[in-house]
Amino acid sequence: MAKKAQATWGGRFSASPADLMLRFSESVSFDRRLAPFDIAGSKAHAAMLAKVRLITTKERDAIHRGLDAILAEIKAGKFTWSTALEDVHMNIEQALTKRVPAAARLHTARSRNDQIATDMRLFFKYACAALGEKIFGAQRALLAVAESNRDVLIPGYTHLQRAQPVFLAHHLFAWLEMLERDRQRLSAVATQANWCPLGSGAIAGTTLPIDREYTAKLLGFVDASGRPQVTQNSMDAVADRDVHIEFASACALFGVHLSRIAEDLILWMSSEFAFADLPDAFCTGSSLMPQKKNPDACELLRGKSARLQGNLHTLLTLVKGLPLTYNRDLQEDKPAVFDSFDQASLCAEVLAGTVAGLKVKRAACAAAVADPALLATDLADYLVIQGVPFREAHHAVGAVVRLAEKKQVPLNRLTHVDVQTVHAAFGADWSKVFDLHTALSKRTGTGMPGPQQVTRQFARWKKLLA
Ligand code: ARG
Repeated sequence: MAKKAQATWGGRFSASPADLMLRFSESVSFDRRLAPFDIAGSKAHAAMLAKVRLITTKERDAIHRGLDAILAEIKAGKFTWSTALEDVHMNIEQALTKRVPAAARLHTARSRNDQIATDMRLFFKYACAALGEKIFGAQRALLAVAESNRDVLIPGYTHLQRAQPVFLAHHLFAWLEMLERDRQRLSAVATQANWCPLGSGAIAGTTLPIDREYTAKLLGFVDASGRPQVTQNSMDAVADRDVHIEFASACALFGVHLSRIAEDLILWMSSEFAFADLPDAFCTGSSLMPQKKNPDACELLRGKSARLQGNLHTLLTLVKGLPLTYNRDLQEDKPAVFDSFDQASLCAEVLAGTVAGLKVKRAACAAAVADPALLATDLADYLVIQGVPFREAHHAVGAVVRLAEKKQVPLNRLTHVDVQTVHAAFGADWSKVFDLHTALSKRTGTGMPGPQQVTRQFARWKKLLA
């Protein structure tokens, strides 16, 4: 048999791929990071082949030793990767062949199509847990800021206009909720990933008597009670990239949350708000304007979210319109997935670092929240308690606001006579409404920013983030 440059599939070829083709089609430059998963998959596959007696236990042990040695070399940075061998799978298989004769039997009843599908599912299970941990770290940093500023009140905003007073902690807890859902989404993606494609072969399984459940179990593709979970359709198993898309989608949505959090922080750091100062370590200066301290980390968090959305879009477009089953296009799924994982992980760490050094400017917060207009809605509620229908009350308070504007006084500085001319239901106690702490303590319902509820949420988050 003629020796071909392509030892794995070169049998029916009389010429080797062009150098340009090799450069064009290689994926080892980016899929080599799958090596630990690829090797775990190969070890489980070899163990299964021995169990069903397609290879001997001696051959299995030789394969295992060879693969362990290769992994050690890879981890030590001593492994020579070759683009001529296309991808991570063939690089490892060829290296094994050089060491162990039994390597020639390893690919029995397996294709790179079910192999890459398996590698990626193992990767997703790892990546969802790892990214979840990083998000957890950012949540803990946010909780610490909330705790050390428990008593701080700020205006909450709608339309970027001051709306109603809230505890700063309540605002931070809103971020915690968003991030908590991100973690839940990632764990749902890990659950989706938890099905073993090995045994699907290239497209139509194999004629050989393999034991798919055994391999799945060895690789940890099991349900809560330890029962193996194997994919149910060999064509779907090699063509499907749903998990890739779900992972990228979870990262993209996490990115959108980061972007909104970053935007709030950028506003808070501006001289116009001045609610907080961000740590020097996560800001940069201007090469021209000596006075500048710019919130670059937050701006990059906002910017990276575009990239995370782009990766999701890449994957959706990549898969759309592909005929079943595997097509080489699918090799392009990996740069997008890995980039989403790397960038999202980095972002989570940067958010944690930025928040850990955040200093709340209490005086500016107190001044901003002192605006009595923030309690205009409470004044309408006051009228409601006096029996006025809400629409009428809303209208009356609107007129009071207009009057205060006309007289150029703060809302609570109007006289009782002033407000009585607007509506007879305003009693002598009307201006008691403007006590901030009383106003907040009336917000007792679940999810509201009253002090009792904020205390409850502190307890809940401390438990969730312990
Ligand atoms: N490097 C390939 C990929 O990432 C592995 C699967 C190759 N399969 C094939 N039939 N060429 O998609």
